Amino acid sequence: MSDPDRLADAEYETLRVDVGGEADRVATVAISRPDARNALNATVRSELMAAVPLAEADDAVRVLVITGDDEGRAFVAGADITEFADRDGLEQRRISERPRIYETIADASIPVIARVNGHALGGGCELAQACDVRIAHERAKIGQPEINLGIMPGGGGTQRLPRLVGTGQAMKLALSGELIDATEAADIGLVEEVHGDGTFDERVYELAGTIAEKSPVALEFTKRAVQASARMPMDGGIDYEAELFTTLFDTEDKREGIAAFFEDREPEFEGR
Ligand code: COA
Repeated sequence: MSDPDRLADAEYETLRVDVGGEADRVATVAISRPDARNALNATVRSELMAAVPLAEADDAVRVLVITGDDEGRAFVAGADITEFADRDGLEQRRISERPRIYETIADASIPVIARVNGHALGGGCELAQACDVRIAHERAKIGQPEINLGIMPGGGGTQRLPRLVGTGQAMKLALSGELIDATEAADIGLVEEVHGDGTFDERVYELAGTIAEKSPVALEFTKRAVQASARMPMDGGIDYEAELFTTLFDTEDKREGIAAFFEDREPEFEGR
């Protein structure tokens, strides 16, 4: 029987979901619009808004991988441009209001890895930026081409991109609309690693699986602390880190981690 609390049992029109098939406790949500290079339309956005919280709440999931379906031959080719044509400012204002998918991913309590399997453009680039780590296929092309349409990045790109790559590189990408290849994206810090066919999935799921073995509480606190570095002054950030660090000393997982170290065995973290 299907269980509404399990991501593995959820059915979507534009998402394909796998839980545990690639690595233990790792879920993959693949955006699947093969005829539109996996562009983000209203259905994809609302289904992602349902799938991400479901992944967070599901005990079987400790790391989420977000990707474009390989069949779509892209990660995500941006917002669906056909939806832009008749949209006025008022309607766009409603769509831009929170909660929206970029912040839902960034704020997720579990780590989210972007498997950048191809073009990550506009909203697709912003989706990748909202994830915690980005692993790109060498075929990926990445950029913020909104300026070519007479608009600008609106999914957090003017804020997250400079925090990842610095103001100058962000300006260059957003003002020119130029696309860069995966190697250049890695050089400027827009993706963390680049792999070819032979090692791409192996590495994505090796990394996801490695992270999924850790304490979920420690993972969440680490994510929160690192994210805080982008919005807090150094002093406040150091205090916040100390607060979270101290709290971990009361967890079962800390006891288990230390015990496993001395007993020379692998720890079994329960997230408590
Ligand atoms: N929104 C809606 N449809 C899109 C789309 C988008 N962002 N990106 C691609 N598509 C559609 C194309 O219109 C095309 O549809 P069709 O077969 O009905 O004509 C289909 O996906 C395949 O795209 P195509 O351009 O033929 O593929 P390609 O391999 O030659 O190029 C891209 C791929 C991603 C480089 C190209 O599609 C592109 O530049 N897309 C727009 C990117 C963009 O500007 N995004 C920012 C939006 S803010």
